[in-house]
Amino acid sequence: MNLGILRERAAGDRRVALVPEMVAELTRQGHRVLVERQAGVGAYFADAAYREAGAQVVDEAADVVRGADVWVCINLPPRDLLAGARPGTVLVGLLAPMAQARAIEQLAAQGLAVYSLDAMPRISRAQGMDVLSAMGTVSGYRAIIVAAQLVERFFPLLMTAAGTVRPARVLVLGAGVAGLQAVATARRLGAVVQAFDARPIVQEQVESLGAGFLTLPALAAEGAGGYARALAADEEARERELLAGPVSAADVVVTTAMVPGRRAPLLISEDMVASMPGGAVIMDLAAPTGGNCAVTVPGQRVVVHDVIVDGSLNLAAEMPNPASRLYSRNLVNFLALMVAEGLSAEDGGPPTLPDPDRDEILSATAITREGRIVHRGTVEARERLADPTPQGGA
Ligand code: NAI
Repeated sequence: MNLGILRERAAGDRRVALVPEMVAELTRQGHRVLVERQAGVGAYFADAAYREAGAQVVDEAADVVRGADVWVCINLPPRDLLAGARPGTVLVGLLAPMAQARAIEQLAAQGLAVYSLDAMPRISRAQGMDVLSAMGTVSGYRAIIVAAQLVERFFPLLMTAAGTVRPARVLVLGAGVAGLQAVATARRLGAVVQAFDARPIVQEQVESLGAGFLTLPALAAEGAGGYARALAADEEARERELLAGPVSAADVVVTTAMVPGRRAPLLISEDMVASMPGGAVIMDLAAPTGGNCAVTVPGQRVVVHDVIVDGSLNLAAEMPNPASRLYSRNLVNFLALMVAEGLSAEDGGPPTLPDPDRDEILSATAITREGRIVHRGTVEARERLADPTPQGGA
C-alpha cells in the first residue's frame, strides 16, 4: 500500500504522525511511504532520515495526498488538501470527530474511509494503539514541568543553613492517564502530592505513587468503559465544596477531569482561585473541553487573583519528539491490525477495507465508510448541529 504523511498544519503543532524508525518498519513490511518535504523537522526528524528509512520525500503536499491509499495524520488536515484525496482513501488520525462533525460529513460525502484513534475502546488488547493514553502521558508530565517553572517555589523539602524550605503542595484532580503521570512527576521532584478522582478505584494507583488520595464522602462516579460518569449539577457543587480546603492549600493544581462527549466538570470556582496563595499555578488540562476551573481561558495563560491559570490546549505537542515517537508506535500497531483484518490496495484502485464487524477495535474507530458516517457519537453530534432548538445544542 501507499502510505502518505504530511507536515501537520494545526497552529503550534510540531508533531509528525510517523517518525523515520516506524517508516523503516513499514517499508520492511512492503509498504511504500510518501512523506511531504520537511514533515518531521518540527520534531527534529530530518528529510534525510526519512529517505534512509526507505521513504520517498515529495515536494508537494498535493502529490502525497493524491498518491496515498492510506493517509496518516494527527490533526484533521485543512479542507483544501482533503479535497485532493481520491475517493476510497483511508484517513487515520486523532480527529476529534464529534467536535468536527460537519467536516466529517464532508469527508463521508467525498468517499473517504475515516478512522479516528480517539474512539479507541479502553480494552487491554487496544493498549498498544491508545494514542489518548500516550498523549496523556506526555501532557501529564509536561504539566508538572511547566508548573514547576511557573510557580517560582521549590518542589522538594530543603534543609539549609538558612532554614528549612517546605516542599511544594501539588493537588491533582482527575487521576486518569495524564493525572497519574502528573502525580508521578511531581513526586519525583519531591513535592507533597494529593490527588482526587471521581472513580474511587484509582485510590490504590495514586497511593502506589507515594501520593495521598482525598476521600470525599458520597462522591463516587464510576461510569461505563473505565470512564467517570457526568455528575449532576448538585453533585458537582458538592465536589467543589469538598475540594475548597485542599485547593486553597495548594501551590500547584493540575486538573484533568473529563467525561467523554461532555463539557468538563467545573471543579474550581473563582472564589477557590482567590483563596490560593499568591503565585500559585493551575494547569487546566481540561481546557479543550471547557476547563475544570471557572477562570480558565482555553488556549491562554492568564493571571487571576495572583494565580497563574494555564489553559494550554495541547501540552503533548510541546514535546513533539517523544510525542511523535509514541504516536507513531500506536499508529503502526493500528495499521498492522487493519492489514491483518483485510486492508489492502492494488495499484491505482481504491483500497479494500477491513470487514466492519469482525473486530471491536476497528468497528469502534471507524468514523465514515461508503459515503456515510458510521460512528454513533459523530452521527449524534451532526444531528445536534442540524437541530435548531436549544435542546439540540445549536
Ligand atoms: P479522561 O481523560 O476521560 O478523564 C481523566 C480523569 O478524570 C478520569 O480518571 C476520570 O475518572 C476523572 N474525572 C471525571 N470526572 C471527574 C470529576 N467530576 N471529579 C474528579 N475526577 C473526574 O480519562 P483517561 O485518563 O483517558 O482514562 C480513564 C481510565 O480509562 C483510565 O484511568 C483507565 O482506567 C482506563 N484506560 C484503559 C485503557 C485500556 O485498557 N486500553 C487505556 C487508557 C485508559
